[in-house]
Amino acid sequence: MRDKILELLKQGQPEYVSGEAICQRLGVSRTAVWKHIQSLRSMGYEIEAVTNAGYRLIGVPDRLYPAEIGWGLKTSFMGRHVHYCERLDSTNRLARELAARGVPEGTLVVAEEQTGGRGRLGRGWFSPYAKGIWCSLILRPSLSPLDAPPLTMLAAVAVAEALQRAAGLKPGIKWPNDLLAGGRKLCGILTELDAEVEKVNHLIVGIGVNVNIAPGEFPPDLAETATSVLAVTGRRASRVRLLQEMLAALEYWYLRWQKEGFSPVLSRWKEYSVTLGRAVLVTSHRESYEGWAEDVDESGSLILRLPGGQRQKICSGEVSLRPLHDQGLI
Ligand code: BTN
Repeated sequence: MRDKILELLKQGQPEYVSGEAICQRLGVSRTAVWKHIQSLRSMGYEIEAVTNAGYRLIGVPDRLYPAEIGWGLKTSFMGRHVHYCERLDSTNRLARELAARGVPEGTLVVAEEQTGGRGRLGRGWFSPYAKGIWCSLILRPSLSPLDAPPLTMLAAVAVAEALQRAAGLKPGIKWPNDLLAGGRKLCGILTELDAEVEKVNHLIVGIGVNVNIAPGEFPPDLAETATSVLAVTGRRASRVRLLQEMLAALEYWYLRWQKEGFSPVLSRWKEYSVTLGRAVLVTSHRESYEGWAEDVDESGSLILRLPGGQRQKICSGEVSLRPLHDQGLI
């Protein structure tokens, strides 16, 4: 009911909506309407109440409430079911639990703050309150676990496009799926699989985007390597708008990948790549390779040209980009 009242106020903007009209449309009493208005106010909505005119929405809070995400969302299933938490250890952890309970594909778990945000390779993920997008999506593609890596690259493409649309910032993608700006990390993606030998049961795509974190707010161990939309553009971005664009781009590329395969995703990925055509150091399992990042193949593997001229295919690993001045490029 509260969200329905909010919707009427949004539809009515910038005009007043009379208490009478709300009662009639929703079949509730004046007292009930007043209680919901108070509850919306306690969530941070600014609502003016004027005798004989009604209620008017004059300000919305900077929160990733499901009603905000849903208002103007242009998707059919991605992000259509939202589990919102103010504070959570990890959205990936909750998403896993929900996926096992059978929630629909495209279900989104989002938190204002994570107290135990997880990164790749057992690292943590800095996730301060209301300053970023810390979210996880549950997907159920019919696919073998070996074919899953392209999906994380697909997610990177979708977030890159969303950042361009919502914040006017074109990030680079470092293989396979780190988003960088000015050489620093802006977004990380952690994909976790629940699978049998032949078949993926579900996939959790966890995405962390540093949005409104001021440069001085990063902890010392990230101060030199992390960045945010605010740090790069000098402007705060709307997290709701950015998340809506992410969901729309994810749905678009996910459906396209199901119809046409990985090829169109890969072409788009290459447009954002800051890895290809560079000298790199790749740490993969216990081995590391230095070489020239020559290509990414149809399975999402990185093809490295080693100093001796041989080609080395790398399925997973951590890339360090060698500085351009070491490569004779600048
Ligand atoms: C990386 O190390 O690059 C991946 C970071 C992924 C962080 C996101 S934040 C939302 C989701 N929940 C988590 O615990 N981790 C991912």
